[in-house]
Amino acid sequence: MQSQQTAASLHAFIEQLPKAELHVHLEGTLEPELSFALAARNGVALGHDTPEALIAAYNFHDLPSFLTIYYKAMEVLLTEQDFFDMTWAYLSKTRSQNVLYCEMFFDPQAHTSRGVAFDTVIQGIHRAQVQAAAELGVESQLVMCFLRELPAESAMQTLLASLPYKDWIVGVGLDSDEKNNPPIKFAEVFARARAEGYRLTMHCDVNQQNTLVHIRQCLDDIVVDRIDHGVNSLEDPEICAEIARRGIGLTVCPVSNRFVVQNLTGDEIRRMLALGMKATINSDDPAYFRGYMNENLIALHEDAGFEAAEITRLVRNSFEVAWLSEARRSHYLGLLDQSLAANI
Ligand code: ADE
Ligand code: ZN
Repeated sequence: MQSQQTAASLHAFIEQLPKAELHVHLEGTLEPELSFALAARNGVALGHDTPEALIAAYNFHDLPSFLTIYYKAMEVLLTEQDFFDMTWAYLSKTRSQNVLYCEMFFDPQAHTSRGVAFDTVIQGIHRAQVQAAAELGVESQLVMCFLRELPAESAMQTLLASLPYKDWIVGVGLDSDEKNNPPIKFAEVFARARAEGYRLTMHCDVNQQNTLVHIRQCLDDIVVDRIDHGVNSLEDPEICAEIARRGIGLTVCPVSNRFVVQNLTGDEIRRMLALGMKATINSDDPAYFRGYMNENLIALHEDAGFEAAEITRLVRNSFEVAWLSEARRSHYLGLLDQSLAANI
């Protein structure tokens, strides 16, 4: 493989690589066209006449302004079929980009708080996962996120509601509004989740108040397996060294960062790699930030000069830190190696 490739050949290289996605919110994959179809089916008013008008109203500039639009838009999700359709659409789209394995977040409290049963949500998502594995050849696992602005008691109730579906959920995460909602607020919930056999991750969104305190709590108090975003760990060399030593994956989302903090964080991702930290690339909320996996990798090439070797390192990291059995991990790393050998 040449170290410098033309833009066209690097795009083709990115497109054909077998890839994994570890940080995508299913509710953040709700494309405007599907929102309109679900709104019509369920008799819900969207407040806009066309998908283009809806997109034009996506004027977020930080995490809270994004979350307001995100929660409003998901009010069209009411039935099991709605959750199926959303999940199927994402898995079809991401498979078309050669993403072969995904770990997908879902936010049950954003639905149960609107009167939609936990069972409705997970049954629809799970049915799409099973069908997509069989018909599209894309493997996926679910990560249940708690909304951090809600009380810890609500997270615990949600955790308990999930237990009958333990075999369908690989891990738990923490998302939504980080301000004044530190990891430690959920220590008991995450300890119970660990005891139930779930893997643990938490969002440490970019440039949040007390971010280093939050990252420290993730490492020391919650003892997470991964951190979502975690870009600000670069501000503390000891934290970086510890993340590298413990092999903790960081699920970074460049295009999302460009929207939410006006920075693709390409330099930061490079520094993480140089420090031996397992940075991975992900789409976060692709329907809102208008970029799936390949668009994220292409943005790193076009706007931050990432070449094939760095792209490959990031893709390999995803398979290395994925919550897969060792047999499945070897399978995917083998596919990646085969694809690289075919590109020499
Ligand atoms: N929920 C959906 N997308 C999110 C993000 N980028 N950060 C925190 N919570 C989220
Ligand atoms: Zn996220």
